[in-house]
Amino acid sequence: MAQERRGEWGSRLGFILAAAGSAVGLGNVWKFPYITGENGGGLFVIIYLICIAFVGLPIMIGEVMLGRMTQRAPVGAFTKLAGETSPWRGVGWIGVAAGFVILSYYSVVAGWALDYTLIAARGEMSSGDPAAMAERFGEVAGDGLGATLWHVAFMGLSVAIVIGGVQKGVEIAARVLMPLLFAMFVALLIYATRLEGFSRGFEFVFGFHTDKLGPGSVLEALGHSFFTLSVGMGAMLTYGSYLKRDDDIVGASVAIALLDTAVALLACLVLFPITFTYGMEPAAGPSLVFTNIPMAFAQLPGSTIWAVTFFLLLVFAALTSAISLLEVTASYFIDERGWSRSVAVPVCGAAIVLLGIPSALTASSETFGAGMEASFIGMSWFDLFDYVSSNWMLPLCGLGISVFAAWRLGDPERRAQFEAGSKLGRIAGLYLTWLGVLRWLVPVGIGLIMLHALGVFG
Ligand code: PFF
Repeated sequence: MAQERRGEWGSRLGFILAAAGSAVGLGNVWKFPYITGENGGGLFVIIYLICIAFVGLPIMIGEVMLGRMTQRAPVGAFTKLAGETSPWRGVGWIGVAAGFVILSYYSVVAGWALDYTLIAARGEMSSGDPAAMAERFGEVAGDGLGATLWHVAFMGLSVAIVIGGVQKGVEIAARVLMPLLFAMFVALLIYATRLEGFSRGFEFVFGFHTDKLGPGSVLEALGHSFFTLSVGMGAMLTYGSYLKRDDDIVGASVAIALLDTAVALLACLVLFPITFTYGMEPAAGPSLVFTNIPMAFAQLPGSTIWAVTFFLLLVFAALTSAISLLEVTASYFIDERGWSRSVAVPVCGAAIVLLGIPSALTASSETFGAGMEASFIGMSWFDLFDYVSSNWMLPLCGLGISVFAAWRLGDPERRAQFEAGSKLGRIAGLYLTWLGVLRWLVPVGIGLIMLHALGVFG
């Protein structure tokens, strides 16, 4: 029977850790700090928190709900709810396609982090010279063959976990890796609080600065709230499909969003004190973690341990996200095509490896240092995949999921789903507030992201 073949979480905590593992990733440790730096910190962080609470979280609740109701991955979920020939199935398809595209370049960045972990472990990161560090990054990201091999290695790790199944693969990995990740962060935070630049870093993240803020910053915060929570492509829907019928969706979604936000803020509280202590530039852009951080560690006693800890943390964060992306694509073939997990996972993994090779070979010259070529409409494959998935696929699929959950599902079933097993979900007025936000605010927010992507705001 389909249900038995699909698998189920061992416990509610297992689901929360796995979903938080999906949410906490390169988006938190690599991307959030650098966009915060570029947008001047402070107010940008507050706008981001508002986007998480009023856009990301409501979509997450709707998405997990569709998964749990149907016990299917995205395409199957829409087929079950809207019918075999319904255009709504296209929303599920965009999700599966987004999983392929995102993982193909995500794995390339994770591969660099793997490479850096070993470079750090060999003690080769001890030069405190910025030019040497920038050159080192150029070597890692610019060496197409090396980057491809690390990308293959990272995908191999992801396949090895996902092939184990929901409980024995994904859940166990989350139970082991997530606590380790938190422990490493706490260690790094303790270290950061003792730096002389801590108060400046803290003020940068939480102070009220508006100088670098523009309309584009708001849209950047909004777009990032999708990516960081892993909503808008069916990952949360797929993870929700392994929940039991009386599991608390609202409470779990709030916990996941809080954990994700905590890690993003922790990452800033580790990175910016380091950046200020060593007189570096907070708006260093995407290379922030790959150049500034190793350089700062190089100036410390015990630099090897700190650097290995940091890059291992980046790898763990990426791994628990990558497995959710792989799970979305593999579960399509498992649910809809009847493939066994042991065939679907390696086949999807191999397809993603191939799709990622152009990104490994052509990471953008503008984004990642000199010497790498653009290959398509003036963008590298890496940038193109990131642009298409973050600006189009996630918002489109997120729009479909929220419109479907808010307008097509009917009450009292939707209300029962919201309240099932949830004390929080039964708080007076919460259900109607969520529904109102999902019906009106979320589509407007997503519409703005798309108009921004079309260049309407200049
Ligand atoms: N949330 C992940 C991060 O912040 O790195 C990225 C991600 C994972 C996006 C899974 C989408 C997804 F389905």
